[in-house]
Amino acid sequence: MKTLKFAVLPGDGIGPEVMDVALDVLKVVGTKFDFALDYESADIGGIAIDNHGTAFPESTRKVCEDSAAILFGSVGGPKWESLPPKEQPERAALLPIRKAFSLYANVRPGLLYPQLTDASPLKKERIPDGIDIVCIRELTGGIYFGQPKATTTLENGEEQAIDTMVYKTSEIERIAQVAIDTARARGKRVCSVDKANVLETSVLWRRVVTEYFAKHAPEIELSHMYVDNAAMQLARDPNQFDVLFTENMFGDILSDAMGVICGSLGMLASASLGATQNSLGFPFGLYEPSGGTAPDIAGQGIANPCAQILSAALMLRYSFGQLEAAAAIEAAVEKTVTSGTRTGDIAFGLQPVDTKTMGTTILKNL
Ligand code: IPM
Ligand code: MN
Repeated sequence: MKTLKFAVLPGDGIGPEVMDVALDVLKVVGTKFDFALDYESADIGGIAIDNHGTAFPESTRKVCEDSAAILFGSVGGPKWESLPPKEQPERAALLPIRKAFSLYANVRPGLLYPQLTDASPLKKERIPDGIDIVCIRELTGGIYFGQPKATTTLENGEEQAIDTMVYKTSEIERIAQVAIDTARARGKRVCSVDKANVLETSVLWRRVVTEYFAKHAPEIELSHMYVDNAAMQLARDPNQFDVLFTENMFGDILSDAMGVICGSLGMLASASLGATQNSLGFPFGLYEPSGGTAPDIAGQGIANPCAQILSAALMLRYSFGQLEAAAAIEAAVEKTVTSGTRTGDIAFGLQPVDTKTMGTTILKNL
């Protein structure tokens, strides 16, 4: 029997309660598909600030280094919002952990089941068959990490802040390859999003992407779109996209837009894949729901656990090669949220979910 070794970082807010449900699901799936779990939990984010004085402690980093993948909850909350921006959980935990493990490829599936089109703010006639797209976002470059990044006081006493958007050819090429691999397994179409009418980084992005696709994936249909237009097109006709492919900040913004048109952030999983392979020969990755800590409902047992469970499924698929187990989880979630009359509404947070009940229903549907 195989043993899957991974780090569990529940974090803050609803993180711990949805993580519990995801771990229950993984355990049951393990007995069905003949693998055992060997996971170690560690603090990250606000809870790590409270317990260790820093959002991404060395001990947590060590737990991650000793693992083949990281199952991540979410970080941040009102309690830590008064800290200096650089020390807040999002900037002091999430960004450093992405960088520490070179997690440059963020894969965010945008899926809305056809039975649940009511949950989307888009008119039903625009999405008669639901939505099925995926966003590939570059995650360790661009304006998030470029130097210089600082706030200074000018001679006249005025303050000035600077962020730097920077991309190298090699950074663009490696994420282009992820977009290609993703498209090959789907509809074979990639739309690369940039702002090449204004930004130098985008001019380079567009040129490198064009050349890379021509050389390595001539069978993939590549198109380019400016980011402002892409935001509009997502709201107009999301299924015109197959793989939406873009740099770090554009991907951050567009993936939230994608989240809302897909009905609920509570359903959206993500995988952040790294440059390194784990001991099993699969990509090391971090798997997290896209929805955040939801502090307003934390601790009440009413958070939707689906995004965390689907993130666990992505972990099985990408970092452990457990394709059947991953598909089984996804099918169970789909069955749970699409069956019954009000279940779909509940899943989409149109009324509170009972986290535990939802977990047991998904287990039953496995
Ligand atoms: C996300 C989040 C993060 C990001 C924040 C919390 C730093 O919005 O994962 O999309 O901007 O990348
Ligand atoms: Mn975001």
